[in-house]
Amino acid sequence: MAYKIPLLKFVITYTNLFLYRLTKNVIIAHIIVDKAKHIRFALVGCGAIANKHVTAIGRLDNASICGACDIDPKAAQTFQQKYGIPAYTDAQKMIEETDPHVLNILTPSGLHGDNIMELMKFNRNFVVEKPFALTLSQIDKILEECDKRRIKIFVIKQNRFNPPIVKLKEALDKGRFGKLVLATVRVRWRRDDKYYKEKPWRGTWAYDGGVLTNQASHHIDMLIWLMGQVESVMAKTATHLADIEADDTGVAILKFKNGALGVIEATTAARPKDLEGSVSVLGQKGTVVVGGFFMNELQTWEFEDKDEQMDADIWKNYSKVPAVAAWNHTEFFKDVIESLIYDKQGLVGGIEGRKSVELIHAMYESVETQKEVFLSFIPKRCRLGVIK
Ligand SMILES: NC(=O)c1ccc[n+]([C@@H]2O[C@H](COP(=O)([O-])OP(=O)(O)OC[C@H]3O[C@@H](n4cnc5c(N)ncnc54)[C@H](O)[C@@H]3O)[C@@H](O)[C@H]2O)c1
Repeated sequence: MAYKIPLLKFVITYTNLFLYRLTKNVIIAHIIVDKAKHIRFALVGCGAIANKHVTAIGRLDNASICGACDIDPKAAQTFQQKYGIPAYTDAQKMIEETDPHVLNILTPSGLHGDNIMELMKFNRNFVVEKPFALTLSQIDKILEECDKRRIKIFVIKQNRFNPPIVKLKEALDKGRFGKLVLATVRVRWRRDDKYYKEKPWRGTWAYDGGVLTNQASHHIDMLIWLMGQVESVMAKTATHLADIEADDTGVAILKFKNGALGVIEATTAARPKDLEGSVSVLGQKGTVVVGGFFMNELQTWEFEDKDEQMDADIWKNYSKVPAVAAWNHTEFFKDVIESLIYDKQGLVGGIEGRKSVELIHAMYESVETQKEVFLSFIPKRCRLGVIK
């Protein structure tokens, strides 16, 4: 008889656990991830950036792309032919047949919010391309729903993984700059009318926004990540060369909560070619500039107080992003996979991804009101993400 009691306990425990999981079925996704230690990603959207995801995930041993979907049958078919990955025109069918752990949202920016909310019922984790979504109200709904369902969401900010940026952040965290004085980001890129006309969603308020929302969202994220919370911003934008609704040029001055000032300078009207994508941080005891095209090359590393270990190998080992296609996207995915398998906090979760969208809205609000905007705030006059 005695042996039956542990058996009964076992049955009751597992029946309860099973029923609990049925009601909170989202937990199942994490448990499967944990056991598998191999993450299956599925792509929602088979456009330009999908190619990068294939390259980036393709070089990882503990991950694969199990499926893809696109509402455009031609895009789905081309993708399947190119990569031999099953592609669908219906997301539900893709999820049912390929059972992914993560859905990568690679649709036009103005669709990210609706796409995520529609797919939420399948209880999969999300990776979403930048920017997270175009309105803060959508982002807040997504964060609440993910939290309720214990779904993880990650926003792609691959430049945070660039080696010179990683070292710059380390120097900031160590306090090597002393009092922070000024931080500047610059985007001086060329995007001509051909680029904007190629995809009808580009440059529209409803589906993209301008240079601040699209190209500079990486640099705006960087500024906040490195310098901390923004207290206020004042901005101006213009549409100089591109035939689009939103801005092709924008500038802003910022004040950070730590007292430092900041400058954002962004344009897609650089001619005749791309010039730079850079970030510089100046403090009482040091200056670092990371430039190149996508904050990928260390240009200045100067500190009054030396740190033998850090300074010795900075130029040799950390001054450049390796010249390998989609290298920093791969680093981003490694972080996502670690977070899922070991249930750790990822570097760019949903709350992190929200910050740059909030600042972008504050900049547009300042443009509309011609006033300094103090954060946090509720957007009233922004056209970004508004479908007419
Ligand atoms: N991280 C980066 O550096 C980076 C670089 C480029 C683009 N992006 C971002 O990636 C996103 C996509 O950009 P892109 O250049 O690949 O756009 P794209 O227009 O080339 O591709 C988008 C694809 O999504 C498909 N689509 C639209 N609605 C869909 C739906 N409901 N379900 C499935 N598919 C759908 C379209 O048919 C299209 O094929 C944008 O948000 C952009 O900002 C990020």
